[in-house]
Amino acid sequence: MTAAEKTRQSYDRRPYPGEGLRALIKQGGALPPLEWMLALGRPGQSQPRSVLVAGCGLGVEAFVLRKQLPEAEIVAVDFSARSIAEAKRLQRADGRAKPIRFLVADLTDPALAKKTGDDFDLITCHGVLSYIQDTAQVLENLAANLSPDGALYLGVNGEVHTSTRLRPWLVSFGCDVDELSDEKRLRELLKLWDSQQDSEARPLASMPTSYLAGDVCGPHFNNWSLAQWRSAADKTGLELAATWLLPIALRLALEDDRNTLLLPWEVGALAERLDQARPAGFHKLLFRKSPGTAEDGRGLKWTGLYRVRVANGKSKGTRRVFLTSQILGLNAEFKLQATQIEPLRRLVGTQKGSAAWSDLSWQNDEARRVLSLWEGLGAVARSRS
Ligand SMILES: C[S@@+](CC[C@H](N)C(=O)[O-])C[C@H]1O[C@@H](n2cnc3c(N)ncnc32)[C@H](O)[C@@H]1O
Repeated sequence: MTAAEKTRQSYDRRPYPGEGLRALIKQGGALPPLEWMLALGRPGQSQPRSVLVAGCGLGVEAFVLRKQLPEAEIVAVDFSARSIAEAKRLQRADGRAKPIRFLVADLTDPALAKKTGDDFDLITCHGVLSYIQDTAQVLENLAANLSPDGALYLGVNGEVHTSTRLRPWLVSFGCDVDELSDEKRLRELLKLWDSQQDSEARPLASMPTSYLAGDVCGPHFNNWSLAQWRSAADKTGLELAATWLLPIALRLALEDDRNTLLLPWEVGALAERLDQARPAGFHKLLFRKSPGTAEDGRGLKWTGLYRVRVANGKSKGTRRVFLTSQILGLNAEFKLQATQIEPLRRLVGTQKGSAAWSDLSWQNDEARRVLSLWEGLGAVARSRS
């Protein structure tokens, strides 16, 4: 039996998530905020008309997105026929919202688009790709199904995902980690494991069976660094537009000006270097088809994820500017030339591409450094228009 067949059988036996489905939908599932995905994945574009949920399980993501995008066409696919049957049943019980098209389909099928359609404005794929052997084919399919201005969100394991250390540890106790078999013994071992972890680590021994079957046991794991995910996506013409962790990592680098060696770099290179210094256990990544370069700031848009406040006063021709984002829970302070303040105000005011960026006052190394930082923080994003 192939790894894919084992995975499919496992999800047919235990559709995901087995428990707490309603509560998960209510709290917004595991997706990052839609506002973030759209501001950085489709800067300056209208709300998505069409959405593909790739590997939907029982449909948590699809139901959450349905509430947020009541008018969009949503197609949700999974290769577990039982998961799709139960998702359809849940939808019928839910009633009035515009229906989601739940379909049985294999993401590795080169003819996937024939079933799903293509030209999706938003594709989400959370907790799926890390367990598929033919990652390249799935990425190729998703890239092919994305509209030119579309955003692809991937939630995937990082190189220090718990399973990286946990699985060999379980094997050392004679445990089968290719599929969930002796659950009682597994839970006892996990209690022992939990006892050795930091207090803030999520206790694994009490996780639902469907989680243990997929995220701990299973025939195939891609626990990859950001560099590996980025390189795999790059082969299909997808460019990294943002990562959920990059603003947090950059914020740490901003303390005491420890960032000067990093910059100016584009988002992907920045995120990759910082992931190497502090590897993520789980990546929330946003890709899009390459929008090309934004020389001298042309084509950059203010994303609206940050509010800006300019401090009063004119100390030696510079002004302090404060950026605050509620959605990211971050704030940062920058010094700008007084001449840059007016173009900044125009840009923030319109949230549109603006001649303000090509204003001469932004075309020096320090200004490029600030723009690069703002792009990494998610305050500005490059767009085609
Ligand atoms: C851990 S669950 C995640 C479900 C959902 N994305 C969520 O976060 O609630 C992984 C899902 O991916 C599906 N899956 C795995 N490989 C697949 C493939 N090749 N094609 C379609 N679905 C796949 C599984 O059947 C399972 O429902």
